[in-house]
This record gives sequence, C-alpha cells and structure tokens, in this order.
Amino acid sequence: MSNHKAFIFDLDGVIVDTAKFHFLAWRKLANDLGFDFTEAQNEQLKGVSRIESLKKILKWGEMELSEEDFHRQMALKNENYLSYVDEMDKSEILPGVPKILSYLMEHKIPFALGSASKNARTILKKIDLYDKFDAIVDGTDVTKAKPDPEVFLIAAEKLNTTAQNCVVFEDSVAGVHAANIGKMKSIGIGNEKVLHEADYVFADFTEIEIEFIEKLLRNEK
Ligand code: BG6
Ligand code: MG
Repeated sequence: MSNHKAFIFDLDGVIVDTAKFHFLAWRKLANDLGFDFTEAQNEQLKGVSRIESLKKILKWGEMELSEEDFHRQMALKNENYLSYVDEMDKSEILPGVPKILSYLMEHKIPFALGSASKNARTILKKIDLYDKFDAIVDGTDVTKAKPDPEVFLIAAEKLNTTAQNCVVFEDSVAGVHAANIGKMKSIGIGNEKVLHEADYVFADFTEIEIEFIEKLLRNEK
C-alpha cells in the first residue's frame, strides 16, 4: 500500500445538483401516496441508499407497503428520477468543480468517486466525467449504506492508499459521518449548520481555493 494523498468525491449534490432531482422524485412519490415531507426531512435522505430512503419516507407518512408495492414504488421513483437525469449534460457540473478536478489531474493526484447511487455511472457518462476518475465506487459496489464507511474504504483501496490519506467531499450528513468513521478528512459542501461535523465546510466549490487543496496535500490542514 503506498502512502499518498487521494481525494474522494461524492456525486449527488457535490459534482452535480442531482440532490434536487432526488428530492422532486421522492416528494412526488410521497404526494402520490397522500402525504408530504419537508426540506429539513429531505436532509436525512441525502447520501442514503434508495431502499433506506423509502423506508424513512414511509415512516414519516406512517405507511406500510407490501414487499411488492415497496419495490414497485422504488422503481417508479427511479424512473421519475431518471427522466431528469436524461436531460443532463456537462453544463450541469457544479461551478468550481472543474477547476479542482483539473488541478488534481495536472498534478497526477488520484481521485475517486464514492457515491451511494446505483445511477452514478450513467450520470458520469452524461456529464463526460466517466473516464476522468481513477476509481469509481457506487451503490452497485457496496453492501452497507452511508454512514457506513464501506464505499470510501473501497475507494481508498482502489486508489492504493490508506484511509488517513484520503480527503472526502460530501454534501450529506450521512456521508460526512461515513468519512469521519472511516478516519478520512471530511469536507462538507453545503450548509455549515447541517454539516457541522465535517472538518471543513464550504458553501460550494467556488469557495475552495487551490491553496487550500495544496495545504491538505502538505498536511497543513
Ligand atoms: C445518493 C443520494 O447519492 O444516492 C441519495 O444522495 C440517493 O439521495 C442515493 O437515494 C441512491 O441513489 P440511486 O440513484 O441509486 O437511487
Ligand atoms: Mg450527496
């Protein structure tokens, strides 16, 4: 195992704003079932697998579904979600992200994707980033959902480095916990109040200067 720094990016809400599409699709599902949930509740869905998300939502609506209906609703939600994804192209990459990825590529610093989504590869292809990552770990590669660190630990292994050398960018509470539990450095992207357990929080990538990345690389941060 070599001892080099590496970066791991979550996808939804970090590289692209698909978090809003997940919200719209889950909310439609809830509304169709006759109830609603708030944006604050939605924070608890970020980073959480499809199956765990539906379990949480049904609890909020105090509803139970048969196993067959549960799977049907999950499939409907995904179909609805993918109708938004279908419209995506590389213009959806969030501001500030290309600058950081270009820096990492220029300096040959390895980086991976660490996402709970089973649609991650489809989305990366749509936004032309599929070939840029040194490793991709997504919802099809893991057995345990965030906040379990499995997804990031597999990414570290694929990048041939230790957890302690990894820096994780995350927009979700579950993902920040996963990075922390995995003993990685956690950088929250979003609201400081929500992501207060991260080592650092930035509203978005335009706030992250290259100097900050360089300090992380030199272990000064
Ligand atoms: C995470 C999202 O990245 O992926 C969650 O933050 C989502 O909202 C999860 O539920 C699973 O995604 P998918 O695309 O497999 O349904
Ligand atoms: Mg996310």
